[in-house]
Amino acid sequence: MKFFIDTANIAEIKEAHALGVLDGVTTNPSLVSKEGVDFHDRLKEITSQVSVESVSAEVIAADAEGMIREGKELAAIAPNITVKVPLTMDGLKAVRTFSESGIKTNVTLIFSANQALLAARAGATYVSPFVGRLDDIGHDGMEVVETISQMFITHGIETEIIAASVRHPQHVTDAALRGAHIATVPFKVIEQLTKHPLTDIGIEKFLADWNKTNS
Ligand code: E4P
Repeated sequence: MKFFIDTANIAEIKEAHALGVLDGVTTNPSLVSKEGVDFHDRLKEITSQVSVESVSAEVIAADAEGMIREGKELAAIAPNITVKVPLTMDGLKAVRTFSESGIKTNVTLIFSANQALLAARAGATYVSPFVGRLDDIGHDGMEVVETISQMFITHGIETEIIAASVRHPQHVTDAALRGAHIATVPFKVIEQLTKHPLTDIGIEKFLADWNKTNS
């Protein structure tokens, strides 16, 4: 399973990239707004400073025509820009157009396996089921990931599944076990993934033992 980072913060993106585990970046309007920067400028900054498979940039328009116009502008920023489109009827029409023009898409705000199946059939490069938001309302987000994975395997669908709305390390483990190709993870969770108390205790003990004879 690949790792994307779910942020528009340039320092976090550079730090995660330096770890050598980063394959992509996902942004959304809320994440960009938190940064208080121009969206296009930030995308230029991200795509010029880190080399990754995909940088998702979301359209704001609700109609297919507007999505296509915005998406084409976003895709022109860099070859690895992936246009993020919400799963709506208009979104599907836009995804089909992007797919026919060779523009990569990430269909977002997916909460059911059938939504993912439709997105894939429209030509989506990636689908993003939001596991955390499903868990928040008492559903099992990872069950949706697993059902999508089984559907895609059964029908030989190449669209990749991004486990999104990841809130904690257990989501990452479960995403890997239940068939997600990618998890898009906030920086805080990437940091948590590196941590284990026994690692810290082990380092302290090795150092203390070393210092007994080498100081
Ligand atoms: C993914 O592409 C979305 O940006 C993100 O994972 C949403 O996460 P949230 O539910 O924590 O806002």
